[in-house]
Amino acid sequence: MVKYQDYTILCEAELDYLRETVKSVPAGDVVVCGTLRGGDVMAMMDVSPDRNYVVVDSFKGLSEPHKVKDNGTPHKASEFSIEGGRPAFEKNFKRAKAPLPQEIHQMYITEESIKVVKDRPVSLVWADLDFWEPTLSVFNHFAPMLVKDGKILTHDLDFSHTPGIRTAVHDSKLPFVRVEPFNIGLYVKRS
Ligand SMILES: C[S@@+](CC[C@H](N)C(=O)[O-])C[C@H]1O[C@@H](n2cnc3c(N)ncnc32)[C@H](O)[C@@H]1O
Repeated sequence: MVKYQDYTILCEAELDYLRETVKSVPAGDVVVCGTLRGGDVMAMMDVSPDRNYVVVDSFKGLSEPHKVKDNGTPHKASEFSIEGGRPAFEKNFKRAKAPLPQEIHQMYITEESIKVVKDRPVSLVWADLDFWEPTLSVFNHFAPMLVKDGKILTHDLDFSHTPGIRTAVHDSKLPFVRVEPFNIGLYVKRS
C-alpha cells in the first residue's frame, strides 16, 4: 500500500504522477480543487513541503450538473461527499500524521465564489471536480496566476462519466493535452 492511498480514490500511478509533477514545477502555490479525503494533497505536501497549499472543496460533494454541458453524466449532485464534512477531512490529516494545508476554502466553486482565492503566483493547479461549471471556473480564475512553466492538471478528461471536463477544456481555449496512460489533462504555461 502506497503512502496516503487510504485517503484518495486516485490509483497509485495517478498519485505518483501528482508527486512527480509537484516536485518538478517552479516556485509558487499549489491549488487543489476537489480533494475528498485529502490524500492527493497529503502526497504532494509530502514530497514538496516548502510551498503554500490551497485547498478548495465544498466538503459536501458534487454541485448540480449542467443540463447541456454535463449532458450524459450519470453522476448526481452531492456524490463524492465526505462523510463528516470538513472536520472529517481535517481529522484525516491528523490520522495520517500529515500537516494541514495552509489554506482551506469551503465553497461550491462557481465563477463568482472562486474569486475569494486571491491573486498570487501559482505553480500547479489540480482540479478533480467532475462537472463543467466548477472546472471551467477554476481554469479561468487560476490560469492568469500561473508562473512560467506552471501547470494545470485536470482529472477525468475523456472519461465517459464526466463529459463536462472535455467541454470545460474546450471552452477554456487553453491548449490542454492528455497525459498517457491516464485521463489526466495537462496545460503548461509556456511564457
Ligand atoms: C471525485 S472527488 C475528488 C477525489 C480526490 N481528488 C481524491 O484524490 O480522492 C470530487 C471532489 O470535488 C468536490 N466538489 C465537486 N464539485 C464541487 C464544487 N462545485 N465546488 C467545490 N467542491 C466540489 C467534492 O466535494 C469532492 O470532494
